[in-house]
Amino acid sequence: MEIKQAKFVMSNSDHKKCPNKSLPEYAFIGRSNVGKSSLINAMTNFSKLAKTSGTPGKTQLINHFLINEDWYLVDLPGYGYAKVSKTLRADFRKIIDGYLLNRENLLCTFVLIDIRHAPQKIDLEFMEWMGKKGLPFVIVFTKQDKLKPGAVTNAVDKYTAKLMETWAEMPPYFVTSSETKVGLDDILDFIEQINR
Ligand code: GTP
Ligand code: MG
Repeated sequence: MEIKQAKFVMSNSDHKKCPNKSLPEYAFIGRSNVGKSSLINAMTNFSKLAKTSGTPGKTQLINHFLINEDWYLVDLPGYGYAKVSKTLRADFRKIIDGYLLNRENLLCTFVLIDIRHAPQKIDLEFMEWMGKKGLPFVIVFTKQDKLKPGAVTNAVDKYTAKLMETWAEMPPYFVTSSETKVGLDDILDFIEQINR
């Protein structure tokens, strides 16, 4: 799918104030600094659409971006990063949970995982929670450019093995880089198929 138009609509801390639920939407979630906002910019080819930073905790609200006047991409605050204060982390989690549990038009959530890291408890628990709530999600491995090709395969295999300890099957996943744009067209094709 080609992205012809992408525009920022609004930021909210409360899901009740988000845009009405008439259009499909897709959210990006994951630990602070995993690359959620960068991925939105790279996918849309608008480098300054979502605010990014090397310092974790940059995105603090629910941000809606309208794509091709037809559907939304949603950038969320990160969860569970040790360098973000405990209070802020609790605030983020409240915002995130309220959002995820109350958007019937949220058709799929992309759970971002930094491909360089071994499976982390916080991400596994988050996916477990999504499963329990019946919320559909897929996995996006980020920062693929930071590893050699062999190490990428290795990391994905290790992650799959870990998930298979508790899940009956591996959810769909994408291996991506916002730097080289690897994998981003696949995500857009995936969204296009659901939108149909
Ligand atoms: P919070 O809003 O704080 O939760 O973080 P975020 O998940 O939105 O991360 P963000 O997109 O702000 O990126 C964090 C850092 O990772 C920035 O310094 C980005 O430049 C870097 N980064 C993001 N994606 C990639 C990638 O694919 N490759 C590389 N090399 N760096 C990346
Ligand atoms: Mg962000």
